[in-house]
Amino acid sequence: MMNVQAFTKRKQQQQKISMVTCYDHWSAKILNETQIDCILVGDSLAVVMHGFDSTVHATLAMMELHVAAVARGAPEKFIIADMPFLSCSKGLEPAMDAVQSLMQAGASAIKIEGDKHQVDLIEHIVEAGVPVMGHLGLTPQSIHSLGGHRVQAKAEKSAMRLFESASRLEQAGCFSIVLECVPNKVGDCVTKRLSIPTIGIGAGPLTDGQVLVLHDLLGVDQEFSPRFLRRYANTENVIASAVSHFHEDVVAQDYPSLEESYG
Ligand code: KIV
Repeated sequence: MMNVQAFTKRKQQQQKISMVTCYDHWSAKILNETQIDCILVGDSLAVVMHGFDSTVHATLAMMELHVAAVARGAPEKFIIADMPFLSCSKGLEPAMDAVQSLMQAGASAIKIEGDKHQVDLIEHIVEAGVPVMGHLGLTPQSIHSLGGHRVQAKAEKSAMRLFESASRLEQAGCFSIVLECVPNKVGDCVTKRLSIPTIGIGAGPLTDGQVLVLHDLLGVDQEFSPRFLRRYANTENVIASAVSHFHEDVVAQDYPSLEESYG
């Protein structure tokens, strides 16, 4: 099983880190049997599992429920849980209560978006013995101020700001940082500048690891196709075809057969 020390060691040994999202028990059981290095119970579950239009709608109660389901299914995996929208912005005590809830639900670490107001909080959480993963670049909880899903840190000034943020997060004690939707060069420079590993999504090939949303890599929604996404299956068609097949068998009275019935 991965741990915080293994993350650093992977970077030192130049071995890439793989991470996927997971939100439910049955897929956690499948992931538990794979070689995947770690699992993210991302607040993207508000969109993927609950049909909201952004991660702003993820609540602590939702996160707790999904973390617990995943933890029961994947006891051998290092599980990172997202701190949901505004859970870090209402003062130290509510933030620490949220951390406690996620860790007691079964997380091994938590992830926090942004850095501006988070550095003191991150230091406090790390000192309390909870590993923290940072998240920079496109931070979906700030989608309304970023003006949409856009590549970040394209201009030199914003790239410099991102480098500074990444260094601040490292100093505050983060064990790793997610870099989302930044140019390859920025992904590369931040990765070289830090001694903790970077995990990229739309950040090019030179980050220390890669993360994808499980449903995206499985091709559950063929309409969602950002440039960085590689689909490893076409599950949308597999599911639709299996369910249609079942429907046809029921209508044709071909299911259940006698062998599939109790005598
Ligand atoms: O919530 C999420 O799924 C994430 C990944 C995209 C990194 O934060």
